Amino acid sequence: MAKVRPYYADGGLSAAFYDEITAADATLAGDVDLYAALAPEGGAVLELGAGSGRVTQALAERGFTVVGIDLSAAMLARAEARRKTLPPEVAARMAVRRGDMTALDLKRTFDAVICPFFTLAHVPAGTAWKNTFAVAGRHLASGGLFAVHLPKLDVMRNLPPVNPKAPVFDRALPDGRRLVLFVAERSFREPPGKLEQVIEYVVADASGRALQRSPERLTYYMADPTPFAEAAGLEPASPPQDLGGAGDLWVFRRP
Ligand SMILES: C[S@@+](CC[C@H](N)C(=O)[O-])C[C@H]1O[C@@H](n2cnc3c(N)ncnc32)[C@H](O)[C@@H]1O
Repeated sequence: MAKVRPYYADGGLSAAFYDEITAADATLAGDVDLYAALAPEGGAVLELGAGSGRVTQALAERGFTVVGIDLSAAMLARAEARRKTLPPEVAARMAVRRGDMTALDLKRTFDAVICPFFTLAHVPAGTAWKNTFAVAGRHLASGGLFAVHLPKLDVMRNLPPVNPKAPVFDRALPDGRRLVLFVAERSFREPPGKLEQVIEYVVADASGRALQRSPERLTYYMADPTPFAEAAGLEPASPPQDLGGAGDLWVFRRP
């Protein structure tokens, strides 16, 4: 197998095809509606791990002012390219910048802080989670909400055995090529709840011949976020809400 890259790395295919894959992911359907319900009309939202701007753009289009931060240059480049295609009044409400959600200090507060699509699960459920909740608390106005979308432990625990030859995703791209994904490796350990996978991205021609291959490592960490929230002075705002069967949306309030 070719050298395994981390997810969202420069030159990798997980960043290049992030939008195609999330657009086809039914487990994310309606997530933007849930985030939009957390802030008052026209309010300010901070997105931790904004990636290619999928949610950032959608919230800016709904009238929110959104700051998205991310560590990945490849994902931020996609978000910035997306921002440039927007009508000027929408683009003016969307800002993306490089930042680490475990150490951010923008020296301002927001009506809501969001951490969509398993972003928190990309960092270990110890000091990194503690620091991310502290970041959320520090950036929330009094009464503001922090929403974090996390994978369900039960789903991670019961994933089917890996068949590296069976595609888990296979779609035609607009230019006639195909994007095909395989799970090459998978392991799950608990405690802690840690899922490690190598996903092999393959770009193929219309006849199925591989033109480009990129194995990429995707790791998720999962734990109960409530003690981390409470340590940051946040309180549960509602019970965790199922989102698409694969994860839950956890919402905490800054008193
Ligand atoms: C699954 S994507 C989510 C992107 C977007 N929020 C969405 O819902 O489509 C996870 C993102 O989190 C980013 N990320 C991972 N660790 C991070 C950290 N410590 N600080 C900031 N961003 C991080 C990755 O670079 C990636 O773009």
